[in-house]
Amino acid sequence: MKDQAPTAPQTVYLKDYTPFGWTVEDVHLTFRLAPESTRVLARIHFAPAPDAPKQDFFLHGEELTLISAKIDGVAVQPALTAQGLTVSVPDGPFLWEAEVEIAPIKNTALEGLYMSNGMYCTQCEAEGFRKITYYPDRPDVMSVFTVRIEGDAPVKLSNGNPTDSGEGFAEWHDPWPKPAYLFALVAGDLVNHPDRFITTSGKDVELNIWVRPGDENKCAFGMEALKKSMRWDEEVYGREYDLDIFNIVAVDDFNMGAMENKGLNIFNSSCVLASPETSTDANFERIEAIIAHEYFHNWTGNRITCRDWFQLCLKEGLTVYRDSQFTSDVRSAPVKRIEDVIVLRARQFPEDQGPLSHPVRPESFQEINNFYTATVYEKGAEVIGMLKLLVGDEAYYKALDLYFDRHDGDAATIEDWLQVFEDSTGRDLSQFKLWYSQSGTPRVAVDETFEDGRYTLTLRQHSPDTANQTDKKPQVIPVAVGLLSPDGTEVAPTTVLELTENEQSFTFDGLTEKPVPSLLRGFSAPIVLERTTTAQEKTFLLAHDTDSFNRWEANRDLARDCLLAMIVEGAGPDQDWLDSLTKVLRDDTLDPAYRALMLGGPSNSDLAQVLFERGHTPDPDAIYDASETLAQYRAELWVDLLPRLAAEARVTAPYAPDAEQSGKRALGGAVLALQTRLDGGKAAQAQFDTADNMTLQLGALAQLVRAGQGEAALATFYDQWKDDRLVMDKWFGLQIGALPPAEAVSRASALTEHADFTMRNPNRFRATLGALAGYHAAFHQADGSGYRLLSDKLIALDDLNPQTTARMCSAFQTWTRYDDNRRSLMKAELERIKAKPKLSRDTDEMVSRILNA
Ligand code: BES
Ligand code: ZN
Repeated sequence: MKDQAPTAPQTVYLKDYTPFGWTVEDVHLTFRLAPESTRVLARIHFAPAPDAPKQDFFLHGEELTLISAKIDGVAVQPALTAQGLTVSVPDGPFLWEAEVEIAPIKNTALEGLYMSNGMYCTQCEAEGFRKITYYPDRPDVMSVFTVRIEGDAPVKLSNGNPTDSGEGFAEWHDPWPKPAYLFALVAGDLVNHPDRFITTSGKDVELNIWVRPGDENKCAFGMEALKKSMRWDEEVYGREYDLDIFNIVAVDDFNMGAMENKGLNIFNSSCVLASPETSTDANFERIEAIIAHEYFHNWTGNRITCRDWFQLCLKEGLTVYRDSQFTSDVRSAPVKRIEDVIVLRARQFPEDQGPLSHPVRPESFQEINNFYTATVYEKGAEVIGMLKLLVGDEAYYKALDLYFDRHDGDAATIEDWLQVFEDSTGRDLSQFKLWYSQSGTPRVAVDETFEDGRYTLTLRQHSPDTANQTDKKPQVIPVAVGLLSPDGTEVAPTTVLELTENEQSFTFDGLTEKPVPSLLRGFSAPIVLERTTTAQEKTFLLAHDTDSFNRWEANRDLARDCLLAMIVEGAGPDQDWLDSLTKVLRDDTLDPAYRALMLGGPSNSDLAQVLFERGHTPDPDAIYDASETLAQYRAELWVDLLPRLAAEARVTAPYAPDAEQSGKRALGGAVLALQTRLDGGKAAQAQFDTADNMTLQLGALAQLVRAGQGEAALATFYDQWKDDRLVMDKWFGLQIGALPPAEAVSRASALTEHADFTMRNPNRFRATLGALAGYHAAFHQADGSGYRLLSDKLIALDDLNPQTTARMCSAFQTWTRYDDNRRSLMKAELERIKAKPKLSRDTDEMVSRILNA
């Protein structure tokens, strides 16, 4: 009864939304676990939904072997397709019973029920539940699930609260109605790191992090992060946890970072396991944020879910915004804001200005997995931040309370979300809503005049055409502005200008001198600011701006302009800028983390992006050379300053992954990179030999490899860590990222032949091929070797894991921006992928969209 007819890609449209014709009263699932032949028995009560349009009874189901089906106890013969089944059903309520067989061991796509290192686990978002049993697998169908798991695995987990267990079985009941994408099951030989949490209202919650034996000592940090998140959501959003137990499980083979299944979050082990010896500071920060993120989904995603997948930003944009707020609160707000903007520019801007551009709420898709994008997530979070800025903090939290009151238990839409803000603030948000429907990065040009003590800023907005979208309307752009007098004092504190027209002027009166504006403070909107300011003015802001974001931004602009002049005009490094930066670096009242950020400039791909935005054809070799030249120049310029900074960066206390120590190590790492250019690797070797934590060990190793002194250290590192999968991922990625571009490609190629390389583990695949794709000058080698290696491996991976393959195709999204040679090489690789027999629909959609540029 298995149907495998290939299917033509189908496009789904937001405008076609229709509710399902039945409600699901309850769901009882029994799993008889076996690697090759798991049986899933479903008993589901359906009742006609009174208001839904008439329709055939259709249940999603993919790659299932139907053993038997009954309606009200009577065997039926449904009509099967590759997407599901239809069957005729009674007019009133009825009981559907089905038994299907699936083979978790053969599931390499890691969607549905699969096995990872002998452990059973599930991933159902977005449309994975249909690979477990026949079901209306859509987020607006919510129901109460009761689950029985049968099998020898010592630990058997599902959503909700445990209700019964005994020899070979365990039962779980989740009282909260939920869509199928939040279903989860885990079974295996696992050990737990237990703890508890008492909620504000006194509820005692059992907490567990479940891991493979041997990983118990890597759970403490994640547990603390969980408890911090639970407290934070109570204090800031007034949201408490709502079950007796909260379980987190670490799995090694996982397509994404983590998943918010109700009461049973499943994590990529790289996003939960942590120890000072094996994890970097960046890993710790990411783990803390992602634990918070998945926990916060309990209210923004689970209690209130999405009506359909077009509304994905309703839960993801909001939850990313919430986890950013959390990180700002528990670490450093200025540092977090800068980190977020770096990511936005690196990932969302290229996406929004290329063939994959789409609105924060897309209007159509073929494969929803392809829309878990930087636009939905990161721009989606920026939109929430703008809304909060426009209405103010108090009104924001009042609106959120109304949102939770009004929509608890609902599958909601962006319209519902905005309505809550309109009702609680009285504000008309119809123009603001364009942020959800218009794609592209708006540009804002700035003019200024000063006359009789009156300073006038004229802002003009323009949104370029993007894939499938032209003739855009003006959006509401909150531009936070402060004014500084020429002596460096602030004469107008931050105010938010609301740009709503194509062109608008804003005046400031009573000034004695022409001020220097500090525009778009805190990066108050996800736009490109077009302003021809003098380097002098930027240098002034670098020295005096009271807004820490804009002070950093001034430095970034100067670094960018310096590099652009080097690339385009063959200029030398900008000495005036470097002199001002030197003063900042010498200022020991400034947080080391902040000074470390000041030392980082735009990446090579950022430079390519800016060159493209300004109408140039980026030359990856020239960009790489300019960056290297500038780095070498800076190392020589700061020969005396570096030892002093290194001393300030030294941590004497025992290792802690907190903001203060990580800030120092970040500064130390940036300094070591420069020192290595002067000493050929002496300091790096010393640090490598004595490091007692992964941040220092890995930082030193990278510099040794960069200096051409890394082979022995790579071998030592391998011997030390060959049994630790997560550390080995770092070993694979690091050497590719640190070697010179041409060698990086051949090393990446050699590493794909290494005994420890595997296509079956997404972390290992991403560590290796992702390192190549993320290394601008290596990926864009003029002979096409980088392109070819990536597409070879993507073609091979597509048979095993379409989701990860499709995501990684985005490396090619900028192909039309380059010179004819590179363009045609990339185009040829894209066409080669597109021509692969039995290409998955995930990859097919991505490659087709990219080729359509
Ligand atoms: N709900 C997602 C996980 C997910 C994504 C499942 C795509 C299925 C398809 C989860 O909440 C999430 O957003 N995870 C992010 C990390 C987060 C900190 C932004 C991830 O996995 O990268
Ligand atoms: Zn999420």
